[in-house]
Amino acid sequence: MVDIKTIVVLGAGLMGNGIAQVAIMAGYNVVMVDVKQEFIDKGMASINKGVNRLEEKGLLTAAEVLGRIKTSLDLASAVKDADMVIEAVVERMDVKKQVCKTTMDNGPSHIIYASNTSTMDITEIGEDCGAPERVSGMHFFNPVPLMRCIEVIRGDKTSDETFQITMDVAKSLPCLRGERYIAPVLKSRPGFIVNRLNAPLGIYGHYIRDLAYEKGIPWEQLDADYAILKAPMLPCVLSDYVGIDTSYYGALYYVEKLSPDFKPGKVITMMFNEKKLGRKTGQGFYDWSEGRPTPDTSIKAGLVDFDIIAAIRMNEGCRLLEEGVVKSYNVIDEANMAGMNTPGPFERGKDRYKELIKKLEEFVALTGKTYLTPCEMFKTGKFLEMA
Ligand SMILES: NC(=O)c1ccc[n+]([C@@H]2O[C@H](COP(=O)([O-])OP(=O)(O)OC[C@H]3O[C@@H](n4cnc5c(N)ncnc54)[C@H](O)[C@@H]3O)[C@@H](O)[C@H]2O)c1
Repeated sequence: MVDIKTIVVLGAGLMGNGIAQVAIMAGYNVVMVDVKQEFIDKGMASINKGVNRLEEKGLLTAAEVLGRIKTSLDLASAVKDADMVIEAVVERMDVKKQVCKTTMDNGPSHIIYASNTSTMDITEIGEDCGAPERVSGMHFFNPVPLMRCIEVIRGDKTSDETFQITMDVAKSLPCLRGERYIAPVLKSRPGFIVNRLNAPLGIYGHYIRDLAYEKGIPWEQLDADYAILKAPMLPCVLSDYVGIDTSYYGALYYVEKLSPDFKPGKVITMMFNEKKLGRKTGQGFYDWSEGRPTPDTSIKAGLVDFDIIAAIRMNEGCRLLEEGVVKSYNVIDEANMAGMNTPGPFERGKDRYKELIKKLEEFVALTGKTYLTPCEMFKTGKFLEMA
């Protein structure tokens, strides 16, 4: 088995600099590569800040840790002495395929390429690189030093050795908020585990927002329905924060990959067309011109049914089991907790799954969103054997 000592982190952006930081903290030699010096400088500033803060807390010696990182603007030369590339460049298939090929063309014959793509197919990323058996996925959550989950993804051609090494490297990377949870993703399917589990909530979200709009219910009242969850941000605030365009394109991705039922709703489409994209444009569901809005949640819309939400997530988790993406529902629950800081659906839902199925069937009959029809694994209760 290859001993990983030197890692090229490709991309110095939000994810790349976080990955580089935890890699040097783990003791690896790192070369962080980007296309422009200004991106490298910004990434390095963030790493310096993070590492220095940890030194102030007495957790490490900054000079020693920072001594393990170098930077480069040239991938081809950076990979020559590397054992692994962790790639966090823009989410574009053509760019990812190209840098994967550059890695394999210029790196040593044992080099492994792991992509931090949030959506793209690992098999496709590696298909033209000449060594698809050395390509895998390593999906981190943002912010990398703080979120415990890393999903390690197996493409169709990924070798056992590559998968094992990727798992081992993932396990070795420190997390500042407790122990890392490494979720093995046995097939490269859209959204992997955590994002896929939660993706069909978009179908429900579009439905409920369109309904509130038709009824003339203000967004803060709809958000008030969710206040009970005590999440760091209410859903409409969060959508604005992330960007309405991100929700819109995210929905289109699942339309292409999974079902037309993921189609963006009327409200999101209207906001997208009118460029009311949330925080970045100053207006979305809320006005952001004075900073982050704090909606008055004293009056509830009374539209949201949490049983339907629980049922949708459980059904999608069962699909992941059915498709062979994951072997156990505990992995799904644990990955969700480690990646999103919220409980997965099985722990709470498994004892009342028949009731949830009934709710979901009623919702499908009402809306015609047949993608949400309970799958066999859910309906038959067979998932209970896959703890
Ligand atoms: N932002 C998130 O929350 C998140 C979470 C999980 C995964 N991801 C994935 O991580 C990847 C990076 O996302 P990000 O949010 O860090 O983006 P980002 O825009 O902050 O950073 C991307 C960086 O890649 C650089 N880059 C582009 N082409 C390059 C090339 N050919 N060679 C070297 N560098 C190149 C850019 O200059 C930029 O600095 C994407 O695939 C994204 O889907 C993002």
